[in-house]
Amino acid sequence: MRMNADNPTVVDLYAGAGLLSHSFATEGFCIVQAVEWDKTAAATYALNVGPHVICDDVRRAAAIGRCDVLIGGPPCQGFSTLGKRKDDDPRNWLSLEMARWAKVLHPKVVVVENVEAFLHAAAWRKLSRAFELMGYSVSSHVLNAYDMGVPQLRSRSFTVASRIGSPSVTSVVRRPVRTVRNAWYGLSSVPDGRNHHYAPTPSSLALARMRAIPMGGDKRDVLRTAPHLAPPSWRQVSGQVTDVWGRLEWDRPSNTLRTALQNPSKGRYIHPEQDRVMSLREAARLHTIPDTWSFVGLPTQVARQIGNSVPPAMGRAIARAVRALL
Ligand SMILES: C[S@@+](CC[C@H](N)C(=O)[O-])C[C@H]1O[C@@H](n2cnc3c(N)ncnc32)[C@H](O)[C@@H]1O
Repeated sequence: MRMNADNPTVVDLYAGAGLLSHSFATEGFCIVQAVEWDKTAAATYALNVGPHVICDDVRRAAAIGRCDVLIGGPPCQGFSTLGKRKDDDPRNWLSLEMARWAKVLHPKVVVVENVEAFLHAAAWRKLSRAFELMGYSVSSHVLNAYDMGVPQLRSRSFTVASRIGSPSVTSVVRRPVRTVRNAWYGLSSVPDGRNHHYAPTPSSLALARMRAIPMGGDKRDVLRTAPHLAPPSWRQVSGQVTDVWGRLEWDRPSNTLRTALQNPSKGRYIHPEQDRVMSLREAARLHTIPDTWSFVGLPTQVARQIGNSVPPAMGRAIARAVRALL
């Protein structure tokens, strides 16, 4: 990826596999530093974005010089509505590193990406206060990736601390409706293993369950039509997550892809017709990650890199809105 040092500079913290960096680079920013502690995610970053990524803990790595924009996606497990939402989860406080780095780097704009629930956490209030004390105005934006051309329903929060005005990130142009069918156009229907078009072979039990689930269906279809294949825990009705063992629909966007996107018990990841979960390349397509993007790591690590990332079509919309301020 070519980056021009005359362009506005960016530092990316909790950079993952580099999809948010990639979006900012595509919109004309020069990424000067990125920090990610996971070795395989950092290797994917280096392969696709550039060698400036440092494989280290954000709390330990040294900030270098100044930058125009500081971006980052601190871990969201502590805030996720799927996990137990705990204000005392130590991971929550990692978001405060964004303010510590801002103090050193003096960016004009800081963008913090996270799940929506982050906006209701004590850590968010503390982070906003820290930015305000440094003279930033803070705005928060809840956006759905689908509205930005991503064939996936994915709601995320973007907290923007700015010294130069609030970006109008909501005014992005709506693109035509995106679906699983459109997203997978041109891929071989059976994963051939090339270019990460790989899906694991299901166990015999998983295969039998998948056969009982029609397009758009989920584990409730197994309970109804093949109850002998359901474990006792599926019969406990109260507070059940139903969007698991879900089968995608061709003419709808996918639901949110999370980190275990090849595990059918974790979401709606089964192919619309075939008895298998989506391949990694199919997942990348649902995330608007280009086919030229290569991944480093085992399938579970690649799935995590995809599920963790900001879909590029969404990242570019944010980058354009920030660029318009500079
Ligand atoms: C939500 S992901 C970021 C995804 C990235 N913005 C993208 O678009 O590809 C958060 C990342 O933070 C990394 N991480 C968590 N704690 C960290 C720490 N203390 N120092 C460095 N990286 C950390 C995780 O390994 C993970 O890759």
